Amino acid sequence: MPKGAKPEIAEEAMAVIGVVGLGVMGLGIAQVYAQAGHEVRLHDAHAPAQEAALQRLRQGLQARVDAGKMVAPEMAAIMSRLQVGPLSDLAPCHLIIEAIAENLAAKQSLFRQLETISGAILATNTSSLSVAAIATGLQNPQRMIGLHFFNPAPVMKLVEFISLPGTDAAALRLARSLTETAGKTVIACADTPGFIVNRCARPYYGEALALLEEGRSAGEIDAAMVAAGYRLGPFQLIDLVGADINLAATESLLAAMAGHPRYHVFPTLRAQVARGDLGRKSGRGFIYPDSLPPAPDDAAAIALRIEAMLANEAATILAENGSDMAGIDTALKLGLNFPRGPFEAARRHGLPAIRAELARLQAAAPDTLKPRYAAAAALEALA
Ligand SMILES: NC(=O)c1ccc[n+]([C@@H]2O[C@H](COP(=O)([O-])OP(=O)(O)OC[C@H]3O[C@@H](n4cnc5c(N)ncnc54)[C@H](O)[C@@H]3O)[C@@H](O)[C@H]2O)c1
Repeated sequence: MPKGAKPEIAEEAMAVIGVVGLGVMGLGIAQVYAQAGHEVRLHDAHAPAQEAALQRLRQGLQARVDAGKMVAPEMAAIMSRLQVGPLSDLAPCHLIIEAIAENLAAKQSLFRQLETISGAILATNTSSLSVAAIATGLQNPQRMIGLHFFNPAPVMKLVEFISLPGTDAAALRLARSLTETAGKTVIACADTPGFIVNRCARPYYGEALALLEEGRSAGEIDAAMVAAGYRLGPFQLIDLVGADINLAATESLLAAMAGHPRYHVFPTLRAQVARGDLGRKSGRGFIYPDSLPPAPDDAAAIALRIEAMLANEAATILAENGSDMAGIDTALKLGLNFPRGPFEAARRHGLPAIRAELARLQAAAPDTLKPRYAAAAALEALA
């Protein structure tokens, strides 16, 4: 196929998918499209990862067969659609998804190579880099999109979908359709740091840390959120994912957002990481291994504070174009198992209550944190 050619395809079901980078995400993404009936071509630059890929996929599928969730012939059919080989084998692909290490220079270099090899739509699974920055230097950046899957990709329904100004409309349609047909809920979002979920979730942890620093206990804060319908409280969620991962995500967003106090890194989180109390993986976290106490008397006030901050962050994202209220709500429900999206939560409280809570928090905050609580203009969209 000539350089920059658009993939021609008679029937979408015939689309060949490429996956580069066969770690936890790449293998999961390969499984998603192979399960949907596509031929999937896989490549990893590191021989051990490349050699282990099919065996790892087989083990994952075998566990489903053993659990009665898949029949053996289906597993055999899926395995028959997966092929591992050199990067040049990805030439006939219609959509190639990159899930290599989170390194801008490595991703740029890979995509420059890929556009000379194949006419496919090129997609990155980056969590924290700008899709536009990854596309820098491409001869045909209009082929580049972001397809951000969540871990584990075969289980998590959400895919954040990032287009750039000038992205080819046919490429967008095909990538969206292939991914939706593979069973995913595709939510459009802007090419801004953290996209929707990883950014909008920040206040869930941040405001809980603020409360902790004001003297509340992690247990009562979490119990309040569980009483409000959340599956896990903020600290239980940090314990599950790892305080180090949460700190890295917050620091990366703070840097990308020019140090805005909405993404303030609370010292308590740094101290927790410095102590090595990372959560489940280290045997001790904010809550882990304990269970939660009963919800405190002011549980509803704690939930209002955290949900007001979630709604305010959602409103700042809304103002950036690319997403709508329903999409942001769906993303938070699917990406984080939240019982309701931030706009749905705000509607339950009512816009006046959200505004009053933000004003109260701003008045009480130290000067450096006052901008953290400034109401986003787009909150008006809720009125
Ligand atoms: N782990 C998650 O929860 C998660 C969720 C969403 C998105 N992501 C993103 O997905 C990407 C992959 O993450 P992961 O957790 O699967 O990483 P990983 O470290 O498990 O796997 C990365 C794989 O890429 C290979 N690789 C590295 N450089 C390469 C290159 N130049 N060419 C080909 N292969 C190369 C490595 O050998 C490795 O097998 C990252 O961009 C990450 O930010 C991760």
